[in-house]
Amino acid sequence: MASIPCILMVLLICLSLDHMACHGPEQATDIAFLLDSSGSVRDVEFEAMKQFVINLIRKLLKKHTQFAIAQYSSSCHIRVNFSQFNSKGLWEKQVENIRHISGGSNTAAAITKLAKELFVTSGGARPDATKVLIVITDGQSVDGYNLPFAIDMADAKNIIRFAVGVGQAFENSRARQELNMIATSATDHVFIVDNFDTLEKISSSIENHIKTMQSIGTNATESSTPKADRGPPASPGVLMIRAAVCVCLLAAALTVTVLITRKKTSAGGETVIYTNAIMLRGGENNINTPVDTSTVYDTVQK
Ligand SMILES: *[C@@H]1O[C@H](CO)[C@@H](O)[C@H](O)[C@H]1NC(C)=O
Ligand SMILES: *[C@@H]1O[C@H](CO)[C@@H](O)[C@H](O)[C@H]1NC(C)=O
Repeated sequence: MASIPCILMVLLICLSLDHMACHGPEQATDIAFLLDSSGSVRDVEFEAMKQFVINLIRKLLKKHTQFAIAQYSSSCHIRVNFSQFNSKGLWEKQVENIRHISGGSNTAAAITKLAKELFVTSGGARPDATKVLIVITDGQSVDGYNLPFAIDMADAKNIIRFAVGVGQAFENSRARQELNMIATSATDHVFIVDNFDTLEKISSSIENHIKTMQSIGTNATESSTPKADRGPPASPGVLMIRAAVCVCLLAAALTVTVLITRKKTSAGGETVIYTNAIMLRGGENNINTPVDTSTVYDTVQK
């Protein structure tokens, strides 16, 4: 009976190996925030935006989740890239230290820059991570004509995008349309709030979307770009190693099971084969004597 826990243990090990290889204990995720820092955003509003970012990071902070923060007006600045983000403690200071700048709203140029310079290895991004970009803006861009190009580029990199519009500007349908275009899903990933103080209202919604992605790879209905739907599948090499480890463990468990069964049988002396085998070996009745299978076979032949 001791063999049953042993086999169960092996099965558990196999299952957890499988789980780790397929899903990871948690889907690695690289999350970037792009903050509108144009002239129309007031200083106090920019501070509220930073607070929103800090609160959301606090909720999403996990072992395999990385963050980055960029701000843009006429040009875009990556303030904290994925490798600079200090998850061990200083990160709040890193966000607080970002100062408001002013200028136009070159949203398309900013998204293009992040796709090229942040969601890449040199920006600290991991090739196997789910990529998420959260864009927070207070109005329409001045380079909307470049938006399709920026979006194509982000799609090509499987960057899942949330668009957050703050304020009255989004009563205008063209401005709303632009948010729909920036986001990966116009129905699920676009959020509009009245003002920067109410940003917090949508925080848990974004949090839940991201957590859903992390727990099941990326949910197929989450994204309109099928390519972004899941992380890379385990490579054939990984699958083979995993299978080999499982086979070895199972073989070991079976061997142990057979040995235990034999020990018990020989101890009880209930089976002719073993009794004979032991007699052939000189009548040893030590239950620790390993059973030689060739001897057993000979005995049966007689
Ligand atoms: C990201 O940060 C690292 C570390 O500070 C730096 O070496 C690298 O140049 C940065 N990458 C980009 C694209 O800014
Ligand atoms: C994907 O997400 C949607 C909405 O968040 C949910 O209704 C659906 O059940 C999810 N699908 C899977 C396979 O988990």
